[in-house]
Amino acid sequence: MSDTPTFSAPIGTRDVLPPESAQWEGLVALFATLAHRYGFSLILSPMFEDVGVFHRGIGEESEVASKEMYVFEDRAGRRLALRPEGTASVVRAFVQHHPLSPFKAWYVTPAFRYERPQAGRYRQHHQVGVEALGTDDPALDVEVISLAARFYAALGLRRVRLLINSMGHDECRGDYVRLLVEHLRAHQSELCDEHREVWEKNPLRLLDCKKDACVAVTSRGPMLIDHVCEACRSHFETVRGGLESIGIASEIAPRLVRGFDYYTRTTFEFISDALGTAQNAVGGGGRYDKLAEQLGGDPTSGIGFGSGIERLLLARVAEEVAETILERGLDVFVVDTTGHDRATGVVDELRGAGFAVERAYDQRSMKAQMKVADRSGARLALLIGAREEQSATVTVRDLRTSGVEQDSVSLESLIADLGRRLGK
Ligand code: HAM
Repeated sequence: MSDTPTFSAPIGTRDVLPPESAQWEGLVALFATLAHRYGFSLILSPMFEDVGVFHRGIGEESEVASKEMYVFEDRAGRRLALRPEGTASVVRAFVQHHPLSPFKAWYVTPAFRYERPQAGRYRQHHQVGVEALGTDDPALDVEVISLAARFYAALGLRRVRLLINSMGHDECRGDYVRLLVEHLRAHQSELCDEHREVWEKNPLRLLDCKKDACVAVTSRGPMLIDHVCEACRSHFETVRGGLESIGIASEIAPRLVRGFDYYTRTTFEFISDALGTAQNAVGGGGRYDKLAEQLGGDPTSGIGFGSGIERLLLARVAEEVAETILERGLDVFVVDTTGHDRATGVVDELRGAGFAVERAYDQRSMKAQMKVADRSGARLALLIGAREEQSATVTVRDLRTSGVEQDSVSLESLIADLGRRLGK
């Protein structure tokens, strides 16, 4: 045994290898296509930020910022954090660069949270998402939510439900929090162990507590949606009506408060009934009409959502969605037994013509090369040996039929011939 240490991916992270990675590629390509149709363009921003971006953005007291963030000092002593989510960075970039409004951007990004790893919950997960800044028009809420809904449908997911709530804005939420505090104080002794003592710092968090004791208390208490102001209520009704008008069903979830402090008005989550309750949120988002100001910008409304790629793929497995998102099969495998590498020229030409082509290396025997060809999943094998070389032909063999069906095709007509056989 060698003494060299071996390494594995860190706890809570995972490697995605082929062929699974084709699902990722397909999912991101599908999201990019849809996002483009809805008027969103790609944004790239750094994986780490000044820790203040997240403290001010998602709230220093939030569970994610206070307990789960990867914070570190760089060599010059700057306090940085790996992004635990995408929104705060996008809004920081918006404030920094003053792009034209409305600003509509989509992203795909890893996100880092020091969570207790379990199925569907990772320390590095990946999100696709969008952010739209510059208007509080409820039509934009409908657009963002419908993009998510259409994306899940296009992935083949049928058991996804949309939960929706309004967080109101600062002023009306303040009135509600006072009512909630009164209710919680009256029932303090009935709260769960964790919250019996510590709840006053962020009483809204209790609405999110899944423990039976807290659920029993808060479900009897005042609901935010009943206490938002007239303007927020009407905004919410317009969003719901807009969704309904395009056939998107939503369920009001009065206890839905999301994990970050930046949310105002519309908040939503997409839940998969095919997944276990600890990781059944396949996406979530909402409005953040004060976030740009909190990050030093002019007052600018915004809304967006993020969706976990791992969870979406788990939901597809759980729902037994059969069709692949992206077919990444090989068209042709080139077997070369001439002994002087005719393959390089042939594969170059075929790839240039748009075919997906793989080849054998190391000038191995015909039998060894054919074994690799069979395993490759390619539709066709092209055999080039001394005989073919002499007659300027190749032998085309169909790898998907069990009998040995093969034809001799002249090099001249090869591309047209392959195009016909492969339907390209
Ligand atoms: P979030 O709800 O924290 O929101 O995360 C969005 C999605 O990322 C979740 O619905 C879930 O699918 C996935 N996710 C979150 N944490 C994990 C994890 N530890 N492991 C696997 N998947 C996970 C946000 O991040 C907001 N930035 C969304 C948003 C955009 N709000 C407005 N704009």
